[in-house]
Amino acid sequence: MKRRIGILTSGGDCPGLNAAIRGVARASYGMFDCEIVGIKDGFKGLIHYDYQVMMPIEFSGLLVRGGTILGTSRTPFKKMRKIEKDNIDKVKCMVDNYEKLNLDCLITLGGNGTHKNANLLREEGLNIIALPKTIDNDIWGTDVTFGFHSAVDIATEVIDRIHTTADSHDRVMLVELMGHKAGWIALNAGIAGGADIILIPEIPYSLDKILGSLEKRHSSGKDFSILAVSEGAITTKESLLKKKELKKQREKMKYPSVSYRLAEEINKKLGLETRVTIPGHQQRGGSPSPYDRVLATKLGAYAAEMIANRDYGKTVSIVNNKLWATPLEEVAGKLKLVDKNNILISTGKLVGTSFGD
Ligand code: F6P
Repeated sequence: MKRRIGILTSGGDCPGLNAAIRGVARASYGMFDCEIVGIKDGFKGLIHYDYQVMMPIEFSGLLVRGGTILGTSRTPFKKMRKIEKDNIDKVKCMVDNYEKLNLDCLITLGGNGTHKNANLLREEGLNIIALPKTIDNDIWGTDVTFGFHSAVDIATEVIDRIHTTADSHDRVMLVELMGHKAGWIALNAGIAGGADIILIPEIPYSLDKILGSLEKRHSSGKDFSILAVSEGAITTKESLLKKKELKKQREKMKYPSVSYRLAEEINKKLGLETRVTIPGHQQRGGSPSPYDRVLATKLGAYAAEMIANRDYGKTVSIVNNKLWATPLEEVAGKLKLVDKNNILISTGKLVGTSFGD
């Protein structure tokens, strides 16, 4: 009997989503008789019955294509069970529409929020298989997520380009990188781009330590410095605050982001000229790197094997280069942050990189 497979992409987009969609589709068509239903704009499409039955031809040419052909949106987990002004029971609508679409299973491609929503639907009795996408690389249970390597490539190129102009102008340049609460992008791009100082949320920084490192470097004859700063970087003082207090303080902060505050502090204390560069959503844009194309294809094809075996309620993971599936209830709500013993931190320290601690 023909199997009907629903597929959606949710949360922030990233390079590799289309390659993963293609992986799921091609491997499924090859293994069993099926029809693929593309749900538009993430869970929003499932709530509002917005979908399109896909033709096999629509999965061609996707390996290199950035973004997501299905569209995406953010549907926060904490609001899922809330009835808002539109009076819609979102969870009920999703369950009903899954039935109405006669789906055998639903494949959800997304990050942490998506995994929480996917687990909620699993609890509601739906057959779910999740795929780990995010540039942040912070999904628990997998060594790497697709989108991450492409973002690191882009971030590294930014740091490389900043190097030459920082050198010409004798400036301290801060490059602020995405990653939400995780420092994976700044850590990897910072090491790859030879940043002098890397600041990540997992290692709260002391301004004095940063000033000390800059003074030491500049007095040794180096006239410029590069800082790779995670958007979520925090000071040691801020690290003592409760989540809500920190959020409040940040909302009141007169700077657009943490890098601007730090740039002003460095300029005021050391008299060095500072500049801030924020590549922002460029880190999520464009064609996936070859690494991400390969990873997304592997994970997508593995998801198809799971569909073939009716192995539901799990997210596809890669651990020690082996494909795996982790139960959704284990993944949902947990973050994979940079461990203080991560080899890149000790390596960075060995080659003279400061982490502001
Ligand atoms: O989760 C991916 C991510 O790009 C984070 O690194 C960043 O904090 C956030 O999404 C930005 O979200 P938005 O696209 O909604 O501005």
